Amino acid sequence: MRHLLSTADLSLADALQILDTTEEMSSVGQREVKKLPALRGRTVVNLFFEDSTRTRISFEAAAKRLSADVINFAARGSSVSKGESLKDTAQTLEAMGADAVVIRHPASGAPKRLASSDWINAGVVNAGDGTHEHPTQALLDAFTMRRHRAHSLGIEPAGTSLEGFRVVIVGDILHSRVARSNVWLLRTLGAQVTLVAPPTLLPVGVEHWPCEIDYDLDRALATEPDAVMMLRVQAERMHASFFPSVREYSRRWGFDDRRLATLDALGGPGAIVMHPGPMNRGLEISAAAADSARSTVLDQVRNGVSVRMAVLYLLLSGGAKTAETSSIPAAMQANRAENQS
Ligand code: NCD
Repeated sequence: MRHLLSTADLSLADALQILDTTEEMSSVGQREVKKLPALRGRTVVNLFFEDSTRTRISFEAAAKRLSADVINFAARGSSVSKGESLKDTAQTLEAMGADAVVIRHPASGAPKRLASSDWINAGVVNAGDGTHEHPTQALLDAFTMRRHRAHSLGIEPAGTSLEGFRVVIVGDILHSRVARSNVWLLRTLGAQVTLVAPPTLLPVGVEHWPCEIDYDLDRALATEPDAVMMLRVQAERMHASFFPSVREYSRRWGFDDRRLATLDALGGPGAIVMHPGPMNRGLEISAAAADSARSTVLDQVRNGVSVRMAVLYLLLSGGAKTAETSSIPAAMQANRAENQS
């Protein structure tokens, strides 16, 4: 794997390799010294042309836990606001020695443009491009779901897929790169996906996606899914009116207290409630649901660091073919030795 641009590019073997490597990385997060020497001497540049809290900090934490050097670049306050092009910005960063560029950009396709250009040699990781894709978010979501599935079945997650797992994704699908990346990845992992949204918030051509469509959230919840993923209503990308009012939206498509009680009444371990953040509490999800025992919002954030460690590691250590025999275990040994000395 040289770049990570889209989950549609990942085979089942690729996806499982990333998820299994993530399991190993997550054990590093449990230690007192949360650091591996695996990427010592490598430089990761975070190139963010759009606002972000979780994703940027998560990539930074991931790179640092692998001992890479990290350069954070926010377009605001840089020469981009003077009109410098993506090409010039990228080449400047390359000249500073970037081995990997993590890019978030408002234009769909910007990471692909960067990866397929001869502007730079660095590996490119898509950290969200317009309404197109957000592959590391989908990977951390799949990782969270796989752990839940394995726990329910009483098995170890490593090596398993999401066969038979049923996911309902709800809300602003139209503007959601998270939904797109999830649909492609979940299909590859063998899960069944149902999208629930007002018709105005579904993209043209959605009927060709590998999933079911429903407009009625209560009907979808009655099928007893294993995971319900709520999406943020992306007001900043809405230049028209897509639903009558906030009240109407949350009544029909919000995961509110009544729906939380409905899930609880179904009995059994039941569904986890997911959200990529940032949440609009009271709109697509109620505060009680976001803070409930079913909510995996903070697990998703925690797992995000491990997933990004796995991706940077596989990208920068040329992991694709050699992951099994590569330096993760060796790096962990070295780390243990350092801890003891
Ligand atoms: C998502 C994004 O930026 O696409 N957030 C994230 O990365 N945690 C979803 C969103 O902004 O609603």
